[in-house]
Amino acid sequence: MPAKRNDVSRRQFLQGVAVAAASFTGLNACGGEDDAVTQATPEGGGATPTGTTAATTPAATATETAAAAGGEPFTLGLMVPLSGTYASLGRDMQQGFQLYLDQHDGMLGGREVEVVSAETEANPEAGLRVARRLIEEDQVAVATGIVSSAVALGVKDVFGEAGTPLIITNAGANMVNREPTLPNLFRTSFTNRQPNFALGQWAATEFEGLAVAGIAPDYAAGQEHLQGFVDGFGSDVVVRLFPPFGTTSDYQPFLTEIQQSGAEAVFAFFAGGEAITFVQQYTDFGLVDSLPLIGPGFLTDDGILEQQGAAAMGIRTALHYSPLLDNETNKAFDGAYRDAHDSPATTYAMQSYDAAQLIDMALTDNDVDTSDAAAFSEALASVQTIPSPRGEFSLEAEVHDPIQPIYLREVQEVEGGMGNVVIEDLGEFPPLPEA
Ligand code: BEZ
Repeated sequence: MPAKRNDVSRRQFLQGVAVAAASFTGLNACGGEDDAVTQATPEGGGATPTGTTAATTPAATATETAAAAGGEPFTLGLMVPLSGTYASLGRDMQQGFQLYLDQHDGMLGGREVEVVSAETEANPEAGLRVARRLIEEDQVAVATGIVSSAVALGVKDVFGEAGTPLIITNAGANMVNREPTLPNLFRTSFTNRQPNFALGQWAATEFEGLAVAGIAPDYAAGQEHLQGFVDGFGSDVVVRLFPPFGTTSDYQPFLTEIQQSGAEAVFAFFAGGEAITFVQQYTDFGLVDSLPLIGPGFLTDDGILEQQGAAAMGIRTALHYSPLLDNETNKAFDGAYRDAHDSPATTYAMQSYDAAQLIDMALTDNDVDTSDAAAFSEALASVQTIPSPRGEFSLEAEVHDPIQPIYLREVQEVEGGMGNVVIEDLGEFPPLPEA
């Protein structure tokens, strides 16, 4: 059955956007982040304009407002999973982006922004469908988001052909912007290697001479996370286990294999719903007291700690962020996020917030027509450093991957619950060794 599409024409949108953008702030102040975006699902459903109130404002008014604000309004596609294992990551990314907009009157670089939120699941086919729709039908000036490496790898070529700038705000696929390198592809998150290589180097001293088992979901990211750890550790793991992604709910057979492997410690990469299940079952199975569990910080992200409960206590992980990082930018960001959502900021929200910040800086510093995709990409590439809640970081020239510090964190009791306490700054890491 053909997909049902957004029936708000681009012209109507341009007429209504000034009012719509103004309404974002008020709507979100009521705690309704979903009200502030339009929704496009992979099945269609179209971009239902839930936050856009008016196609009735006279065009002249919209144009005048845009001119007064410093530029023409533009549309932005936010590609996130809103169902399945990674649904909470997608929600966090929406909330992080929206927080930045709320703090800036719904504008980036003085231009009003219409956000079209598009459901990618964690599925490359769904990602491809919504990418094409955002580019061809919604004619977005820029897209952000994408949680899964598989989705990122699947949509890369579509963005390459269209030239529309894409800012990946999670997916860590190591090679996504290498061979070939696209001038319109950016990433405010990490490479899958980055936190794991740092963790491996730390473990080479901490777990010197110990046999380590590795486990991660069976898709591109799982393999890269585990290999990144092995490369940093300097010797292979005693067993590599890859449970099926998105369908495994019982990890007992894998935990049995770990137990029988002779491992003395365990490296695990899981995120979202799978991280909750795995960490709980690891404790229930009785491994937690004999085999220390480590991994990249997604394993104990602050958005899932409450659900993991006591099972997460003491787990050490490496990542480029913790909401407990002690810097002023982070305190302001985490405080505002807590005020809006009554929960700590998450890595996913932070990476998405930084994408909004990157666009804002690019359009503030460069007088660019956002409908000129090449000029928009050049403006994004001109941003030298981003004053992020993670600490200031820069993007590699050409490939546009982040060069950033990685922190060792440990889940501890903190005021109001549990948190990822930063116990060591592991130093600055390039996206890949040759950078
Ligand atoms: C990935 O697929 O790249 C990914 C997903 C969740 C957390 C981290 C990485």
